[in-house]
Amino acid sequence: MHQNKNQNNHTQHQPVLLDEVLRYLAPDKGENYLDLTAGYGGHASAVLERTGNYKSSVIVDRDQNAIDELKRKFSESGIEIKWQDFLTASQELVAENRQFDLILADLGVSSPHLNEGTRGFAIRESALLDMRMDQRQDLTAQIIVNSYSEAKLAELLAEYGEEPKARQIARAIVLARPVNTTDQLADIAARAWPGHSRTHPATRTFQALRIAVNDELGLLKQALPVWQDLLSPGGRLVIISFHSLEDRIVKQFLADNCGDRYDAELRALTKSPITASPIELVLNPRARSAKLRAAVKIKTKERER
Ligand SMILES: C[S@@+](CC[C@H](N)C(=O)[O-])C[C@H]1O[C@@H](n2cnc3c(N)ncnc32)[C@H](O)[C@@H]1O
Repeated sequence: MHQNKNQNNHTQHQPVLLDEVLRYLAPDKGENYLDLTAGYGGHASAVLERTGNYKSSVIVDRDQNAIDELKRKFSESGIEIKWQDFLTASQELVAENRQFDLILADLGVSSPHLNEGTRGFAIRESALLDMRMDQRQDLTAQIIVNSYSEAKLAELLAEYGEEPKARQIARAIVLARPVNTTDQLADIAARAWPGHSRTHPATRTFQALRIAVNDELGLLKQALPVWQDLLSPGGRLVIISFHSLEDRIVKQFLADNCGDRYDAELRALTKSPITASPIELVLNPRARSAKLRAAVKIKTKERER
């Protein structure tokens, strides 16, 4: 069958740690599901097939292409599909007094984001420096690199990219302005790192800008307590992160809210993060940096015991 470019891209996203997600969510018939980063629906399909409960489940994404694909896949099912960032969507659900037995957040970008050269996420694809997950948003990477002060750029590269040459790269960006394309930015970062390295020398610079454009860490920090509120007693929360800054936030949140304290609302299901099996790493290299953490909401009776 002929597939156009978009369809082809959409089929390229392989859900990571799928077996592990199913093990920790442990979906049961009739349970309801909230997928906060539904993407191309790989995890959602597998979970919903097991619960069979589409009517009181909700799937969320802030990317329009993902939403179009989710609508194509699930429109007949009666599931609620929200084109929003996960914080706004979660706050709305709390305001509606909704609760969920199963909640999944599979953070970060999808393979189509990286494969669609035009979005500006990929170092090796020539494009305008966009990097917005939600194209309704005004702030782009192009605006950041051309309008932030050198000091602010250096801080952003150091904080969100953990880039040791942050100051040098920030200086080079300011001197080269206007910097409008992925190629220009990749060249600037590469010049700060002469010689060979295993990863592209602009990897940390691109990561930092992507996190800043999409406020990835800010939204995650604010959303975690809201997800705790959205869990039904006995409900399971699974979070997959793709870089250490995200994982640190999730780890800290679970450390603060799980445990033996009388008022702890969660119990951790994972002591240390779960990572991909060697087989998955061969089949799906994107799983390389994935870390899964999970928790269950303690039932009141269990706490009183
Ligand atoms: C790794 S992919 C998820 C893939 C999905 N689990 C699947 O099986 O197809 C991450 C998705 O989360 C979305 N996303 C990232 N941050 C988000 C946020 N703050 N709010 C809503 N969606 C977000 C991205 O647009 C992307 O589609």
